[in-house]
Amino acid sequence: MKFAKENITELNKLLKGKTAIEIIAFFSDNLGDKITFGTSLGAEDQVVIQMLASIKSKVPVFTLDTGRLFPQTYDLIDSTVHKYGITIKPYFPVNTEVEEMVVKHGMNLFFKSIELRNTCCQTRKLRPLKRALEGREAWFTGLRRSQSVTRVDMQIVEWDKNSNMLKVNPLLEWSEDDIWNYIKENGIPYNPLHDNDYPSIGCQPCTRAIMPGEDVRAGRWWWENPDTKECGLHK
Ligand code: ADX
Ligand code: SF4
Repeated sequence: MKFAKENITELNKLLKGKTAIEIIAFFSDNLGDKITFGTSLGAEDQVVIQMLASIKSKVPVFTLDTGRLFPQTYDLIDSTVHKYGITIKPYFPVNTEVEEMVVKHGMNLFFKSIELRNTCCQTRKLRPLKRALEGREAWFTGLRRSQSVTRVDMQIVEWDKNSNMLKVNPLLEWSEDDIWNYIKENGIPYNPLHDNDYPSIGCQPCTRAIMPGEDVRAGRWWWENPDTKECGLHK
């Protein structure tokens, strides 16, 4: 089996009906460290970490540390590493790029325009992602279909044309309830902000709590239109 663009249909057929842990084990066994997992320490990502740990996978795990994360997220990185005996490698943006961006556009440039918000995400997330994915053939994410209107057409295995490699979304069909039942049943550590109406957590200045009835990603870049609300990691 090849893990290339032309095999995506075949891979999706093969994995149809498989559970998330079976999907994770399949890629972990076949690709080893040619696949990596990017975690934002969100609830979904914590499920993936627990599954990787439970099969003693050697798949490397990374997080993009934008420098603007919540203190609770940094605490969770340490407690997760400790609990599962794993490494979560942080990828930082290039210092000079951040320095120049902030001098030119200000510390909180993201509120000024969508263009500047994208500049910030590109500097703090997308270019570091490129480094994190160097030399890999695929990456796992914690994406779920029901998270957003921008995610309804996704597949378990897809071609990530930004990164030129496969993207594997083992939890694609899980509901919010599936995630929380699994977390509770397995005693998985999670970000305490989730208990305070933050279902989706990214950078601190670009994330707020949601109101009752709002959609789970309503607190991310809340000042923008729902159709454009992706930071570019998953466009
Ligand atoms: S985002 O594009 O809006 O930020 P979201 O927070 O929903 O994405 O996360 C979706 C998936 O993208 C996560 O499950 C994770 O796999 C990956 N991801 C998001 N943020 C990061 C990050 N900072 N570091 C590594 N992976 C991330
Ligand atoms: Fe910058 Fe906000 Fe994007 Fe984080 S989410 S990289 S702070 S614009």
